[in-house]
Amino acid sequence: MITVIGSINMDIAIRTDIFPKQGETVLGNLFTTIPGGKGANQAVAAARLGSQIQMVGAVGEDAFGNELYFNLKNEEVHVGGIAKTNNSTGIANILLHDNDNRIIVVPGANFDVNQQMIDENMELIEKSKLVMLQLEIPVETIDYVLDVCEKLSIPVLLNPAPAANYKPEWINKVTYLTPNETECEFIFGTDYETVLKQYPNKIIVTLGGEGAAYYDGTKIVKVPGFKTKAVDTTGAGDTFNGAFAYAITAGKSIEEAVHFANIAASLSVEKFGAQGGMPQIEQVNKRLEGLK
Ligand code: RIB
Repeated sequence: MITVIGSINMDIAIRTDIFPKQGETVLGNLFTTIPGGKGANQAVAAARLGSQIQMVGAVGEDAFGNELYFNLKNEEVHVGGIAKTNNSTGIANILLHDNDNRIIVVPGANFDVNQQMIDENMELIEKSKLVMLQLEIPVETIDYVLDVCEKLSIPVLLNPAPAANYKPEWINKVTYLTPNETECEFIFGTDYETVLKQYPNKIIVTLGGEGAAYYDGTKIVKVPGFKTKAVDTTGAGDTFNGAFAYAITAGKSIEEAVHFANIAASLSVEKFGAQGGMPQIEQVNKRLEGLK
């Protein structure tokens, strides 16, 4: 069992050929609402691969909230830990342009995820092989979860996104920290290779299509990505995190888990939507086989 404690958003995606300048109006060519949120995305990514997942989070008493709740249930995520609160369900405004994206998140109910909700789900948290966190829920809740996990000796994977919410003292409480290159440089104020060398087998920096890197205590290990044609990169990092969690809890080494996660992420970008391209285990294995 893996417990994901994090955000659940409705992604409001708009595709445009031109990013509007300040004060300008342009015409877009696609509008859609699809399930997202870094927490929910990572839960779905790991569940599709075969992990047993419990999600702890919150949605509002509204249409988006219901849709997102049932989406997770259909993905076979254990939804007993999802609360309904008086705030509106979190949304992410996603502007898609030229295989890139710009995202504004309005957290809504995600900011109601509190200590009490963690305590109410303690029975399953205690049984978890891994707890996964991102930074779209309140920092006080992250503090609390990290303390609980430290006391119970439960490994924690923290994906520090959005990086602005990161607290430096957390590095000593997590088992794995998985920033992308920009987040890593923002958090530590220096280039990622210098950072990696200070935290052997702990920080895994994702490098987009180039793959990911970590320091094994002797050398920086760069695990190359799988080059593919990207349709939508939204959720690629979440797929990486969910797949890494699946693989590491299945007993793989860090290098094997990173390689596995790179392949899963490469499949995820081939379809539209954060969760749209997240692969099943057979798809990842097939691509892995093809590389032998
Ligand atoms: O990582 C992608 C996710 O970030 C989107 O699904 C959006 O909801 C934001 O949380």
